[in-house]
Amino acid sequence: MAAPNIETIVSLAKRRGFVFPSSEIYGGLGSAWDYGPLGVELCNNVKQAWWRWMVYERDDMEGIDSSIILNRLVWKYSGHEDTFSDPLVDCHECKTRLRADKLEFPGEPETSGEIAKMIREKRIKCPNCGSTDLTEPRPFNLMFETHVGATAEDDPSALVYLRPETAQGIFINFLNVLTTSRRKLPFGIAQIGKSFRNEVTPGNFIFRTREFEQMEMEYFVRPGEDEQAHHEWIDNCFNWFTALGISADNLRLYEQPPEELAHYAKRTVDIQYRFFPEREEEERQWDELMGIANRTDFDLRTHSRKPEDAAGSRLNQDSTEDLSYFDEARKERFYPYVIEPAAGVNRTVLAALMDAYSEKTNEKGETRVVLKLHPSLAPINAAILPLAKNKPEIVGMAKAIKRSLQPVLRGVYDDTGGIGKLYARQDEIGTPLCVTVDHQSLEDEAVTVRDRDTWEQERVKVSDLAEHLQRRLKEANLKSGV
Ligand code: GAP
Repeated sequence: MAAPNIETIVSLAKRRGFVFPSSEIYGGLGSAWDYGPLGVELCNNVKQAWWRWMVYERDDMEGIDSSIILNRLVWKYSGHEDTFSDPLVDCHECKTRLRADKLEFPGEPETSGEIAKMIREKRIKCPNCGSTDLTEPRPFNLMFETHVGATAEDDPSALVYLRPETAQGIFINFLNVLTTSRRKLPFGIAQIGKSFRNEVTPGNFIFRTREFEQMEMEYFVRPGEDEQAHHEWIDNCFNWFTALGISADNLRLYEQPPEELAHYAKRTVDIQYRFFPEREEEERQWDELMGIANRTDFDLRTHSRKPEDAAGSRLNQDSTEDLSYFDEARKERFYPYVIEPAAGVNRTVLAALMDAYSEKTNEKGETRVVLKLHPSLAPINAAILPLAKNKPEIVGMAKAIKRSLQPVLRGVYDDTGGIGKLYARQDEIGTPLCVTVDHQSLEDEAVTVRDRDTWEQERVKVSDLAEHLQRRLKEANLKSGV
């Protein structure tokens, strides 16, 4: 089973300290969320799993961490200044601002012209008040502006943007990485970091926010080898999500139609997750978890000083470098093509939480939430629990065990309830293993290890405990290939 809707996860996330509404004591800030003690661990585990899979387990990958604020020219030549916008409409009646392409249309308009026509003909309703009195759609650039240095606010030379994608930081460093790593094609450059978009209609919890984190990789190949590489990366990425424990039944591939493609893309296939299972119409249950684009040579070419138009003028008047590649073996110079798998950390966290959600009834007929997170994602590996908190010897032993495990795994000690309540709490946050210290432990130097998913228990010697827990966690990870 998976969560029946996002609301179930919102309430679990707040109750147990995964995610809190941001700035709550000042009334909040629309669609901004803070990650709590468990949420930060889950995010870190997602990022570590991605980095391990993408960078460490391959022979053709380098990592990078570029600035969030880049020279404004990067966004001029990438095309974002001109085209990175959503079509915005205002409702004259209730003053709500809406994304024109997300309104409910009769049929499926394919172009922005068709959308505008339907709105003009008053065939479309405001989802907030039902009025059909909407403005014409107009482009709204999604990049957040700020200013660098102690300059006047309206000084255009100080204008910069917070990056809306991490990708450009990779393209502008292509030559630096190529020359310092001495790589040959094909190879990739991976980056994880925050991106910012002034979304017109953010929402659905952490699904669409204005500040979010991306895990992006740009894979550089010879032109002509791009389609095969694209195909392979689509498969690789789909398999990564299932290896993380996300059910293939809740994942699907979506081929972006030509009218949806970004200005740089020749082809893009999204991996979608069933984020909205409660929606009646199957087609509306899915939304993007990750995009895998064939960006052609657009980015390396556009940031290069050499390319010229038909009249012989440089297309990029500002770049000081040529980002082409010289193939020694074939004595050929060209701009590599790029395959880009781009995933969101926050959407991966949401998909992992929704997919892991399950309910189980105990022998007393009580329904418990069990979060069957993949062990490599679980915020806590093992909880160390004393059976009696008023017995100093038991408490002392449990705390000593927790400390001894600290160097090898993420453990917590908890004595704030009876053992049933403590188990329920750990099940609800996805802790794969619980270790219970009881009266007998004082005699036989052994503890009970309880499994989150089966609730089965086994007795393990304290001297073997660290190895036992590590083996169990490793086995679970190996089984799924992560
Ligand atoms: N460099 C290509 C690029 O940025 P994208 O499809 O716009 O492509 C990649 O973004 C991924 O980033 C998305 O699949 C999604 O997981 C995540 N993402 C994009 N916008 C987001 C937002 N406003 N809130 C949360 N995640 C977002």
